Amino acid sequence: AALEGVVEYRNVTFAYPGAEAPVLSNISFTARPGETVAIIGSTGAGKTSLLSLLPRLYDIADGEVLLDGVSVSKLDRAEITRRVALVPQRPYLFSGTIEHNLRFGKPEATDVELWEALHVAQGDGFVKEKKNGLASRIAQGGTNVSGGQRQRLCIARALVTKPKVYLFDDSFSALDVATDARLRAALKRTTADATVIIVAQRISTITEADQILVLDNGRIVDRGTHDELLETSPTYQEIVES
Ligand code: CTP
Ligand code: MG
Repeated sequence: AALEGVVEYRNVTFAYPGAEAPVLSNISFTARPGETVAIIGSTGAGKTSLLSLLPRLYDIADGEVLLDGVSVSKLDRAEITRRVALVPQRPYLFSGTIEHNLRFGKPEATDVELWEALHVAQGDGFVKEKKNGLASRIAQGGTNVSGGQRQRLCIARALVTKPKVYLFDDSFSALDVATDARLRAALKRTTADATVIIVAQRISTITEADQILVLDNGRIVDRGTHDELLETSPTYQEIVES
């Protein structure tokens, strides 16, 4: 079967409804199955906005966002959700058990699949330690788990759906450096055939990305690998040094 999960942004310019100035201008890039594309840039640069356009949280007026060659404006959101998993910047857990939360995107998932996803997300340890395991209660908004545990449960929830495309919006920031490294190594094996787009704050999270996009004020100002950008991009050097 042909590889699925090719993402292409073609000259995308986007303004929020009612706003005059665009928050993204002329964004073009392609992310292919097996690749990791990282997006880095200061707060307010437009990273979350950029990710939100693939699952059609907003529709664009200018340019095109394509999934396997088809404009997402022609796909319904349920269809996109089957193929694209977004782990949002503020991951949301609802009131219910851990397993309810993990099965959110795939109700028919087996317990084995849930534990596999938790294992990759480095969340199996703390779930096992809980007296009720998968049946443990999560409070509304996930207030009875730590920020890092919440992030790992939301990553596991995305893994359970086995999508073609993963969008991680700053999903590793609440993890310590060692857990972040283990999680990404496990993720790399599990998502080897998937397309991965990662928004990150920490340089160490993205040094191995196939392509890094440096976003500044809604524009891609530089792109390349970590080594290339160290040579060519003053903006990237500033981020590395900060
Ligand atoms: N914005 C907006 N309306 C929204 C969301 C964001 O007008 N519903 C604006 C923000 O005020 C900001 C710009 O869009 O000026 C980009 O926001 P965002 O994409 O969220 O920036 P990030 O790069 O994701 O910033 P951060 O690192 O803080 O997450
Ligand atoms: Mg953001």
